[in-house]
Amino acid sequence: MGISRFVLLVFTISMLASPALSDLVLSKVDRRIYLTSHIVRISSTLEVENAGPETVSKVLLAFPDLQAQNLAYLMASPHEAKAKVKVSVVSFPIDVVKPEDMPPGVTFYSVSLPQGLTVGASFTFDVLAVFTQALRPMPEQIGQADIQLVLYQDSAYYLSPYVVKVQSLSLKVPDSRIESYTTLQSTKVQGSEIKYGPYENLPAFSSSPITVHFENNLPFAIAQELVREIEISHWGNVLVTEHYKLIHGGAQSKGEFSRLEPQARENVQGPSAVRYLVAHLPPRAHSVYYRDAIGNISTSHLRGDSKKTELLIEPRYPMFGGWRTAFTIGYGLPLQDCLYESEGRRFLNITFSSPMIELVIDTLIVKVVLPEGSSDISVAAPFFMKQWQETKISHLDIVGRAVVVLEKTNLVPEHNQYFQVYYKFNRLSMLREPLMLISGIFFFFVACIVYMHADTSISKFSASYLAKQQWEEHLYATFLGQERCKLVKLLENLLMVC
Ligand SMILES: *[C@@H]1O[C@H](CO)[C@@H](O)[C@H](O)[C@H]1NC(C)=O
Ligand SMILES: *[C@@H]1O[C@H](CO)[C@@H](O)[C@H](O)[C@H]1NC(C)=O
Repeated sequence: MGISRFVLLVFTISMLASPALSDLVLSKVDRRIYLTSHIVRISSTLEVENAGPETVSKVLLAFPDLQAQNLAYLMASPHEAKAKVKVSVVSFPIDVVKPEDMPPGVTFYSVSLPQGLTVGASFTFDVLAVFTQALRPMPEQIGQADIQLVLYQDSAYYLSPYVVKVQSLSLKVPDSRIESYTTLQSTKVQGSEIKYGPYENLPAFSSSPITVHFENNLPFAIAQELVREIEISHWGNVLVTEHYKLIHGGAQSKGEFSRLEPQARENVQGPSAVRYLVAHLPPRAHSVYYRDAIGNISTSHLRGDSKKTELLIEPRYPMFGGWRTAFTIGYGLPLQDCLYESEGRRFLNITFSSPMIELVIDTLIVKVVLPEGSSDISVAAPFFMKQWQETKISHLDIVGRAVVVLEKTNLVPEHNQYFQVYYKFNRLSMLREPLMLISGIFFFFVACIVYMHADTSISKFSASYLAKQQWEEHLYATFLGQERCKLVKLLENLLMVC
């Protein structure tokens, strides 16, 4: 019932014919939908042609509202044949728009082309749209030993406010079973790929619903909340701590959990359980740890080369659908790998999101803790996010450290881009902590000396004298012991920096 309602809502909109934006024509659309994990990626290549009387600089993209509400990431970039994951491509600005006289139930995005498209000219570009929660487990509940089947729905025709001359669609599913798929004219299955089209000369807002039901056992790992704390210490490190609240977002597990012995994990049933997670840390990450509420977890493996460090972490038990877990990972990075200087200001340049592969994050909070005494703080981020500032006071701080807090919802791995935090910092502030310690100890000694001299009149054998002596010894032992450790550590650091 749920499905048919969904189909109805998504696709009846297209029946309401509407005045097409006749100036543009899509001469060719190639759409590839990747259904190989729990994140759905639609990569389209559009060739747009200006058939109108004026130069045009914006192209509209249309998505059904129900799809648009799960849209996590949208990027348009120049077409590059065969280029795989592009990191530093220029992308075109995209805005949400509400054009007039359009059918309801459709969300529009306007892409600004790098150059106006003159009359008769054509231009080819790529669009990547990444969706979360676009796969629906069907059945919604499975036993521990069952495979997980999911359903995906879309239209065989590209939803567009323009006439589309030639188009084709391919859906890539994991290398396993396809339960069923909608058959239209010119539907082909080749291995794990389902192809629709080519279709020619379809009017604007044409659509034809398709449903694919297939096996997908890849871990549906969702971080309901992730708090990343990035602390800059000018003594040589950037410390990253990541607190995860994870859920298996796939088909719910039904029935009792039969306890699995650790050694039986490898070959046991539960094909869709989350058994491990992989994080790609920066190449020179060090002091890596992984712990949960109980303590350190040693079943993590670290391997690395000059390009990256790979951390494989295994939760204490395999996670079945609907199960939750919470854990923390932490690591240090050398300062010179992520802290730079420009125009008299320092800036941190580090990745924004989680290093875990194929993880969806519902809410991400990034806290950048700057050294005490930082001023003139600003953030440069590649996409919109909420920002504010807080203050964190830890021991030896006088005024506290400025904390830049960034928050964003619905993130996919594509959001793991670099961002920068700029700030001004006075080198002399670095000496504040050691100076405070040294002067603290100095005053302590002076106070002791004054105290002892002031009290020499008391008899050496009186009870009060003995009590005083014991108290002094106790004081020396505890206070000096602690402070000496801190002082030695700070001096060591100071020497290293020098
Ligand atoms: C966990 O591991 C970290 C890093 O190896 C270590 O510093 C810490 O003391 C350990 N904690 C426990 C509770 O074993
Ligand atoms: C941040 O670091 C990345 C990777 O090293 C680099 O590509 C990028 O240009 C840097 N950004 C800035 C503003 O320096």
